[in-house]
Amino acid sequence: MPVRSLPCRRLLATCVALLTLLMATLMANPAAGQSAGCTVDFNVQHQWPGGFTASVTVSNSGPSINGWTLDWQFPNGQQIQQAWNADVDNSGPSASVSNASWNANIPNGGSVNFGFNGSWDNNSNGTPSSFTLNGSTCDGGPPDPGPDPDPDPDPDPDPSGTLRAKAEARGIEIGTAVSDSALQNESDYRQVLAREFSSVTAENVMKPDTLHPSRGNFNFSRGDALVDFAQQNGQEVRGHTLVWHSQNPSWLQNGNFSDSELLQILREHVTEIVSHYRGEIYEWDVANEVLNDNGTLRSESPWAQLGEQYIAEAFRAARQADPNAKLFLNDYSIDGTNAKSDAYYQLVQRLLNQRVPIDGMGFQTHLIAGQYPSSMQQNLQRFANLGLDVAITEADVRINLPTDSSKLQTQANDFRQTVEVCLAVSRCTSYTAWGFTDRHSWIPDVFDGQGAATLMDTNLNPKPAYNAVLQALQ
Ligand code: G3I
Repeated sequence: MPVRSLPCRRLLATCVALLTLLMATLMANPAAGQSAGCTVDFNVQHQWPGGFTASVTVSNSGPSINGWTLDWQFPNGQQIQQAWNADVDNSGPSASVSNASWNANIPNGGSVNFGFNGSWDNNSNGTPSSFTLNGSTCDGGPPDPGPDPDPDPDPDPDPSGTLRAKAEARGIEIGTAVSDSALQNESDYRQVLAREFSSVTAENVMKPDTLHPSRGNFNFSRGDALVDFAQQNGQEVRGHTLVWHSQNPSWLQNGNFSDSELLQILREHVTEIVSHYRGEIYEWDVANEVLNDNGTLRSESPWAQLGEQYIAEAFRAARQADPNAKLFLNDYSIDGTNAKSDAYYQLVQRLLNQRVPIDGMGFQTHLIAGQYPSSMQQNLQRFANLGLDVAITEADVRINLPTDSSKLQTQANDFRQTVEVCLAVSRCTSYTAWGFTDRHSWIPDVFDGQGAATLMDTNLNPKPAYNAVLQALQ
């Protein structure tokens, strides 16, 4: 039947050719089947009782991979709680981690890194002994150091480490203001926040209008959510802010209270809030922006009718409510020596002479690119010499838009110098940026034509400023 057998032979030949092609494709593209040639470096970067942060690097020495899943077994019942740069499925001891949308591709010779925060039982935190990538076993990374006998060891000075790992090694907190809406709605934001920062400050939700919306009624729900996040991720919380002229509830701003009633409200306000967070907030901005640029007392604050004495009252009530929290004054445009920082220098001395329990001075450090104040170290040091801790509390460096590489480099230099100042002044205990991504920054809302003031771009990619801060912390 030559008429029928010819197509049949052709079909067979076609099938064989297709099968050969499929096999070749599978061998060239392990993602479609099995991977080959991988090593995994599983590194516990930071560990504290009950929790740890791990960084995992997967290197591909085989053919290019597009789409990957790394599987392993935890040896001691560890559980992943939150991961970044990857999606996690952790059930019992089995962990299965897959690429995020932006890191699916690992070329030959390339690698990807992801990280996570996990829990452990405080007896042993051994590392997994083998890994499979897309079903194939990888070679081990560096030798498994085995269980760590020290439940709270020194941080691992990982050269490709995070801001928080570097800052911890230098003995300071590295913090950021946190946008509440981003915390609620953006998983990539949460991942970077947990990975990079050891301290968080509520950008808005611990201010008087949020916490004390009507007289005697307090709403701690969003502040508590931030504290929960921080505790889950081994982070400290800076409290911001108890008394301020801005973001006050209208019942307070327009209350027309008598002095004695206002003093009673002040004590209740501070006592309720600080008591609620007792033991959970390591540092409070008790009084924010109390002076004008010329050094006089700012009169638009609802508390100002009590005179300068309201500042002392706020600190005293805060100390009583939480004797262990560090209590700070905080302001902007006082980073270098000038009339305003001179006035604070005098104010602090007056308060200390009255035995007001003030522990620290916060320098917000909202800068314009290229205008780093060269007297900053000398200025912080003079406050430290009064016996205070000092902190950089709201650092950002705004740029005239559009950005270019030269402006970004200038910005990076400014950030670097402010970190170096904090490291050079031994009483400087924390460095907080006012937001870490240009996706969420107050600058464009307030300064027309300016922006790009933070360490990462809107896609959370590090800018030169991030690398400058990382290097300064080395
Ligand atoms: O909550 C309302 C929301 O209901 C409304 O829909 C929206 C419409 O614009 O406004 C929301 O309130 C805004 C609030 O941020 C929360 O997003 C206010 O309008 C806005 O003015 C407020 O800005 C904050 C600003 O303080 C207020 O003074 C910024 O986010 C915050 O970054 C900024 O932070 C201050 C520090 O506390 C003190 N030092 C200076 C620093 C920068 O100004």
